[in-house]
Amino acid sequence: SGALEGSNAKRGLWSSRLAFILAATGSAVGLGNIWKFPYITGENGGGAFVLMYLICIAVVGIPIMMAEVMIGRRGGRSPVSSLRLITERDGLRPVWKMMGAVGILAGFLILSFYSVIGGWAVSYVGTAASGQLTGQSADAIGAIFSGLLSDPMTLLLWHSVFMALVMVVVARGVSSGLERAVTILMPALFVLLLIVVGYAMTSGGFSRAAAFLFQPDFSKLTTSGVLVALGHAFFTLSLGMAVMMAYGSYLPKNISIAKTSITVSIIDTGVALLAGMAIFPIVFANGLEPGAGPGLIFQTLPLAFGQMPMGSLFGTLFFVLLIFAAWTSGISLLEPIVEWLEEQKGMNRTVSTIGAGLVCWALGIASILSLNLWADFAPLGFVPMLEGKTIFDLLDFFTANILLPLGGLLVAIFAGWVMSRQAVEKELALSPGAFRLWHGTLRFVTPVAVAAVFVYNLM
Ligand code: PFF
Ligand code: NA
Repeated sequence: SGALEGSNAKRGLWSSRLAFILAATGSAVGLGNIWKFPYITGENGGGAFVLMYLICIAVVGIPIMMAEVMIGRRGGRSPVSSLRLITERDGLRPVWKMMGAVGILAGFLILSFYSVIGGWAVSYVGTAASGQLTGQSADAIGAIFSGLLSDPMTLLLWHSVFMALVMVVVARGVSSGLERAVTILMPALFVLLLIVVGYAMTSGGFSRAAAFLFQPDFSKLTTSGVLVALGHAFFTLSLGMAVMMAYGSYLPKNISIAKTSITVSIIDTGVALLAGMAIFPIVFANGLEPGAGPGLIFQTLPLAFGQMPMGSLFGTLFFVLLIFAAWTSGISLLEPIVEWLEEQKGMNRTVSTIGAGLVCWALGIASILSLNLWADFAPLGFVPMLEGKTIFDLLDFFTANILLPLGGLLVAIFAGWVMSRQAVEKELALSPGAFRLWHGTLRFVTPVAVAAVFVYNLM
């Protein structure tokens, strides 16, 4: 169709392998690594959960990332168009429709609460910069955080600021300026995390933290913990909602999909582990609770910044960089929805961005209220698995643990069973042994693993 050709003609390719890695890393590295990974690790007992998460990255995450990038590059268009192009030959329209729906729905729901947490980071820039953290006790730091959560208007303000940042970039069209910023700011975030790890090593809690993170105690791993580990593998690598498919469509043909996917996964996992090593020593040295929940990093890192030399400066810088990491991920959550509205509904970019952004923003209000006025409201509490979960908890659970793995399952089935083996083999250009390993994993191990975790949790 005309729309298809039009969008294809406009599409340049990434200038290099590095450009793709930067964009994909920008999407992958975000609040998932620094905010979510440490707190779910704390809630799920540490080492055994971390090991399970690493296994999920290797066995499920990397093969699916390769599949998404491969489908995107093969189609060379936006995810919905790529899937349609590949499936129309085989008359498999429902598949792309379903995958498109999963992607759009997940994007809306995730961005709605992601932006609220991004807003916490925005708020902490001011907290750190004003010197309020200097020399504070754990109790005082905890009180600052509870004060923020109990104040819906302040939360709404920062949520709005974060959402506006995302909308501005998406409305203008994601540009290469952002790519250049990733080159500088991502390594800077990494260095700052290293500085906090260095401080954490002197805090007296480091060996306990290392044992907590890396000595698996399987008696602490529950079936729901396995589901959380699997869901987080999808969430942290931005899989299951066709983001990597969209980015893969810009990847030049001569670049190895396997190498780039593995590189992005290693960077993402590295940032998460580093965040864990920064946070848990502070937890143990100050007698805090590892299972404190979503507030964990906002109750531990400020304590470190309040105690270390030049802490106000490092703290301010850290939260600015965290916002940046969250921003690039937020953009990748909104972009597919806007692209879909443009392509399928013929809306212009500005109108699509404002429309979709406002829906996410309004949805975010429910998450804000779950932190205070609706903190005891568990709408699906009658389901045993969802007992005590607020709207915010439910959105997180439903997207990361259900929707994204479901999207990933569709990708695995599509790439492993629907697409022609020759086409897939040619696109990946792996050695025969490596291809068999990937193909076998994607066809059998990935679907069985995802299905097994689902079934186990439903029983
Ligand atoms: N991967 C991001 C993070 O770890 O923070 C979150 C995310 C971005 C999930 C984009 C899904 C997505 F499509
Ligand atoms: Na991530």
